Amino acid sequence: MSIAILLAEPDLQLAAEIKSKLESSSVASEVLTDPKNWVGQIKNKKYSHVILNYDLEKEVTEEILAKFEADHGHPKVYLVVSEAQRPFVNKSLLESASVTKVLDFPYTIEQVLKCIEESPALKSSAEQKFITLRTLSVKVIEEIYNNGLNEQNIIMAQKIGDSISTLIQKEKDFADIIKNMDDYKPLIYCHPFLVCVFSMMICRKLKWDSQRTMSSLALGALIHDIGMTALPLELRSMNPSEMNPEQFKLYQSHPIEGLNMTNKFPQIPSSVTQIILQHHEANSKGFPNAVSNVKIYPLAKVVSLSDKFARYLLDNEMSPFAGLKAFLGNRMEVLQHDPEMIKAMIKSFIKDDKDSKESA
Ligand SMILES: [Fe+2]
Ligand SMILES: [Fe+2]
Repeated sequence: MSIAILLAEPDLQLAAEIKSKLESSSVASEVLTDPKNWVGQIKNKKYSHVILNYDLEKEVTEEILAKFEADHGHPKVYLVVSEAQRPFVNKSLLESASVTKVLDFPYTIEQVLKCIEESPALKSSAEQKFITLRTLSVKVIEEIYNNGLNEQNIIMAQKIGDSISTLIQKEKDFADIIKNMDDYKPLIYCHPFLVCVFSMMICRKLKWDSQRTMSSLALGALIHDIGMTALPLELRSMNPSEMNPEQFKLYQSHPIEGLNMTNKFPQIPSSVTQIILQHHEANSKGFPNAVSNVKIYPLAKVVSLSDKFARYLLDNEMSPFAGLKAFLGNRMEVLQHDPEMIKAMIKSFIKDDKDSKESA
């Protein structure tokens, strides 16, 4: 069954907000805010997930749960209960087999999306998860770019990055998801997400995929360009090739600006700050410090390659699959990167039967 969510939520504002966020994640949803006659409204419909606010009306909630058991193909039901209501909820209802999980009110869009991701019925929906994670990445990057780093958005970015990592690790045919991304639009806030995804695909093929490494890579890739926020606004969306010498000099300071920003947060590990500082270094020819190859942190090299590739796709308005061959056709570009990483990048885009058998 595809993802279809029924959101039974009497709070009109919350219901509208969650519906619009689900829609932007391409998740089909139906919202019911009025308990009157709603048993009739959902007749003969199938849902994969139901978010059911107990405050809707006690009797209706109980009737609905019984109905789902009988008529609606056993969806995952998330019962929402406020702290004030909890003492009055029938204990057998909270522990009922038809309730997958009890959520506290007020709940968040992140919790709803997590419920969807946790569902084993949606294993085949890796593409859906990918779209959801892209939406969440765009949201958190937007928040970081607008309001600066803070304790909360660092945690969010890390969580989203870790979820991207889990998806890439789990999905043997992850490249297929990229291939099917026919709605690819090179949005500005999509750049960090793409850099994160490509970096993880490369590291997975290099077998540098311990949880710790992937976690640093995730956060480092998502916020690698954070230093750009210290630069004048017009520089942020400019292509470096179009900058005048003065602008280009300023642009070259963004890795150091990023380092200064992230150094203020002791919870950000040095592996992440190294990625930020060195993601434009290229064997003595890069910036800001023109360090030689041996002195560049390996994960920064991975992010550097992914960054160049993502930038190439943006400049040429190409999808990843269409752009890969053209990108690799540029000998000067390829020579700037570690050959093992280039190989891993190519392999990561090929459906690898041998890899699947090895890990089976
Ligand atoms: Fe950068
Ligand atoms: Fe970048």
